[in-house]
Amino acid sequence: MTRYTDDSRDRVRDAVDMVALVSARTELRRAGVNSYFGLCPFHEERTPSFHVSPDDRLYHCFGCQASGDPFKFVMETEGLDFTGALEALADRFGVALETAAEDPGASSRRQRRDRLQSLLSRTATYYARYLWDAREAAAAREYLMSRGLTEATLREFSVGYAPSAWDRILLASRGAGFTDEELLAAGLAQRSRIRPGQIYDRFRERIMFPSTDARGRVLGFGARAMRDNQRPKYLNTADGELYHKREQLFGIHLARAAAARAGRIILVEGYTDVLALHQAGLRDAVGIMGTSLTEEQVRQLERVVRVLDLCLDADRAGQDAMLRAARLAAGRKLELRVVPLPDDTDPAELVEREGVEALRARVESSVPFVVFHVERILERADTGSAEGRDRALDELRPVLADLPASVLREDLLRRVAGRLELSEGRLASLLASPRPRAAAASVSGAVATATLDHGERAERTFLALCIAVPQAGADALREIDPDELLTSDLYRRAARHLAGRTGSPLSELPPDDEELARLVADLVDRAGRAGSVSVDQLEHARLVLELARIDRAIRRARASGAPGIAELARERERVLEAIGRTVARLETAV
Ligand code: CTP
Ligand code: MN
Repeated sequence: MTRYTDDSRDRVRDAVDMVALVSARTELRRAGVNSYFGLCPFHEERTPSFHVSPDDRLYHCFGCQASGDPFKFVMETEGLDFTGALEALADRFGVALETAAEDPGASSRRQRRDRLQSLLSRTATYYARYLWDAREAAAAREYLMSRGLTEATLREFSVGYAPSAWDRILLASRGAGFTDEELLAAGLAQRSRIRPGQIYDRFRERIMFPSTDARGRVLGFGARAMRDNQRPKYLNTADGELYHKREQLFGIHLARAAAARAGRIILVEGYTDVLALHQAGLRDAVGIMGTSLTEEQVRQLERVVRVLDLCLDADRAGQDAMLRAARLAAGRKLELRVVPLPDDTDPAELVEREGVEALRARVESSVPFVVFHVERILERADTGSAEGRDRALDELRPVLADLPASVLREDLLRRVAGRLELSEGRLASLLASPRPRAAAASVSGAVATATLDHGERAERTFLALCIAVPQAGADALREIDPDELLTSDLYRRAARHLAGRTGSPLSELPPDDEELARLVADLVDRAGRAGSVSVDQLEHARLVLELARIDRAIRRARASGAPGIAELARERERVLEAIGRTVARLETAV
């Protein structure tokens, strides 16, 4: 990371024309010496409460309290970090930045980066010029136009064409003083397998899409094949010193400001999709380049926006990608929405087929991810059979359990009830009472499920349910003898800890029992995911443990030849009957 001197920062601040800077976002009117007013760019308003003092280089909104200096303004409106904002302002207002004294290692790394960077930029320029000038690029131009892309859009994204010759970039770059090693490191050349020591251009006869960082500096390329027999369809810059595919967001330099302003960003799969959306006026679109959104991409996006609109192909891969994206977004301050697309259609095709307005309308009617998820489960469900409907319920249970009580939840439940031909009351009770096996299968967490045997799993379920229904859970824990009913010391400690604390399980954990703390956290998590649980479910779980306790006692008695087996067997019968009654209640519960 480059560090600039404090002096550089001050010189940039002095050079900034605050009125010019802010005027790009909102219209300002002069209100006095060193005072301008306008509509706040940070919140919706009808009467201007946004104030700029150009001499002090400050802004302040009396409506929403947003305030700061030019750096903060650029950070907030363009989604840049401080260094990015500093560099952007230095560019715009013509200030040369000086880097703070670096250690020799850091400075040579930066120089190296700058050289590879400039090699990549010149090459992008070369490809772009070649697309428009070269005779051999005519077919590529025609192809791109036939996809409905305009010259202005293609130029804005610096789309280019790589010559068919083997050494154009090689020769041009050597001529400009770059070494073969630098060409290899930038990913523009590769070694010959036939002639050792020789290198040649990596990209030939391909449409070139330059991939940049947030400020528009070229880091690599996506290169689309032109001929049918050319493989692969897309050849990308290999991961190297500058380019890391997992971090790339295609078009981020052009989308960033619009996205920061809108608070949302539209994610599409492909290069052409990004171009099509921008051309359609949807400026806040970026490409994730393939179907899988990565952790690295999410981390960058969450700095700029709160809402991700997934606009991926409606095919199987696209749908799976949305589920993966949901897992990445879970636990972050990101809201995930899905733009419904017709089957087997990507956004670029949609614009071609139905026009710009149709796509815009679809993006504007994106739905919360959970709606998409529920629909998808229902679509695939075999609603003709009772088994199929049970399976659908098992899939729906965790999805709906995460959803807080809301109008949206009510709507979804009504829809599910309709599709599964159940009354809403019956659906609610079925969702509340997982089938025993499904319940065990749906849990996963800090305590590895695989290592637990059936008995332990039942004990864990019981403890989790005590938390899920705290009142009844407290009663149950008071009545049981943990040493009898539970088989491990850890679970016994958990039962003792939870007794009297089912309403606040995480309070007063003994400071020296890390293992217990982990288990209780896991139980709380499971209880949360169990959704609404009935007292009968808790009773059922307790009876299962009771049965296991009796079985242990019978085994012990058999082994030692002690009397009382008959009495234990009768007790066992009574428990089995009680289990039967609770199961019947669970099944008829409405
Ligand atoms: N992709 C890739 N490498 C591949 C195939 C695809 O990186 N071998 C990425 C590209 O970013 C591509 C996206 O996945 O844009 C979507 O792939 P695909 O749907 O096959 O391509 P389109 O973008 O639709 O390309 P076109 O419209 O030109 O067919
Ligand atoms: Mn596609």
